[in-house]
Amino acid sequence: MTITSASASSFLALTLLCFSFSAYTCFANCHIDDETGLLAFKAGITQDPSGKLSSWIPGTDCCTWSGIWCLAKDKRVSSLSLYEEGDPEFTLSGTISPSLTKVRYLQGLLLQNLRNLTGTFPTFIYDLPDLNGLSLDNNKLTGPLPSDIGQKLYRRLVTFTLSGNKFTGTIPSSISQLVHLRDLDLGSNHFSGPIPNGIDNMKNLLFLNLDNNQLSGKIPNFFTPLTFLRGLDLSHNKLSGEIPPSISFLAPRLERLNLGHNLLTGKIPNYLSNFQNLNKLDLSYNHLCGPIPATKFAAKAFLGNDCLCGSPLPPCKK
Ligand SMILES: *[C@@H]1O[C@H](CO)[C@@H](O)[C@H](O)[C@H]1NC(C)=O
Repeated sequence: MTITSASASSFLALTLLCFSFSAYTCFANCHIDDETGLLAFKAGITQDPSGKLSSWIPGTDCCTWSGIWCLAKDKRVSSLSLYEEGDPEFTLSGTISPSLTKVRYLQGLLLQNLRNLTGTFPTFIYDLPDLNGLSLDNNKLTGPLPSDIGQKLYRRLVTFTLSGNKFTGTIPSSISQLVHLRDLDLGSNHFSGPIPNGIDNMKNLLFLNLDNNQLSGKIPNFFTPLTFLRGLDLSHNKLSGEIPPSISFLAPRLERLNLGHNLLTGKIPNYLSNFQNLNKLDLSYNHLCGPIPATKFAAKAFLGNDCLCGSPLPPCKK
């Protein structure tokens, strides 16, 4: 009884406090715009068999909903992060509602491995001024990337990963304006055409993955400024020409180098022996030829080329 009336009076006090600020800043619930935007997102989801969004109930504090993070200070929603790593049956079907722009302070939009999200690139994110991370990997998004993507997102995008979708067309050259990027992953899509030259503007890049597309032309000789790069995966494309000399500037930091399953010609450069931190190397299934420089890697890394020779493959003919 006492407890009930005590909590009733404190509820009243809170309610009065809320109204004395404004109807929006009441700390019992999240901001009305955040709630509206998130519920519109939920409405765009047509099937949610694993109940990922079951905690998203109108009138409850959206900061407690699964996949939602809020800023401590004013309880504005700062991140929407839904990820499925388990059962492939557990999917989310539907589209990404543009009403998410109401979630005005969103910094991270991460919708990964949900497998059945459809639609085109969500250009509404241009209207989210604080967005620094966009990860939409392993869904069913289609169509080209907009050509103005770099101009519109250059502000502070740090993570940009779209792997495992069905995006088509060329990689827009404006992407080179995303100079704060650390992680660029456009792998396992249907991108074609050349690798944009301007990627060398992204001096903070740690990971560059453009694997499993239909990219063609030469690998640009643009690696000199990319001194932080730790992972480079351009495998499973139609890239031709020689392995560019500037890759040598990635030593000793580079940890993973995968150029396998392309149309590369020429020799394996001797500088590869300088990559002390390399723990994954794949140059298999190209048209490389000539002696393999001293290497700790097993034959698997070199198989399927035209005429590579020397350890770990059979000796070169004299
Ligand atoms: C994927 O979405 C489509 C259309 O929304 C739906 O018909 C289909 O059943 C979904 N597939 C799975 C595996 O949920």
